[in-house]
Amino acid sequence: MRRSRIITLLIVFALIGIQFIEVDRSNPPVTSDLQASMEVKNVLKDACYDCHSNETKWPWYSKVAPVSFFISNHVVEGREHLNFSTWGRMYSQKQGEYKKEIWEEIEKNEMPLSHYIWMHPKANLTLDQRQLIKRWALGEKY
Ligand code: HEC
Repeated sequence: MRRSRIITLLIVFALIGIQFIEVDRSNPPVTSDLQASMEVKNVLKDACYDCHSNETKWPWYSKVAPVSFFISNHVVEGREHLNFSTWGRMYSQKQGEYKKEIWEEIEKNEMPLSHYIWMHPKANLTLDQRQLIKRWALGEKY
């Protein structure tokens, strides 16, 4: 067999092999979901909940390795940093700090992650949606 053909075969076998590696795609129960207006909630659901809640919508490509490794990793890490499904368990002072951080991340365009926006155009927040989140996060004076 020619060398290039052997290499191709090895890559194919490796790609098949990694499909059997288990990936965490669990959605734990929602215990104390964020309470906010419908408008605010809808924006956060469209743009953040896939990584920052226990209500992740796992797309079909999240079942295909190696993409599944990246997605699962982002969700696990995202939930660790901020989880709207357990938001109510935080002291209100802590919630205030998190709100400020949420707005900071959005203002600097660091969240939602850019590759997420490619696959989820609804997560590309409009000016109005950003204003809405800013008002919610920082209080009515904005
Ligand atoms: C594709 C997954 C994904 C999406 C969608 C996403 N995030 Fe994140 N987020 C992460 C990950 C991973 C981290 C932790 C690593 C980091 O800071 O980059 C994080 C961290 C954060 C943090 C904490 C930063 C810190 O320093 O602790 C905040 C606040 C945040 N995200 C807000 C948001 C908001 C608000 C949205 C929606 C507008 C959003 N994220 C959408 C994956 C995501």
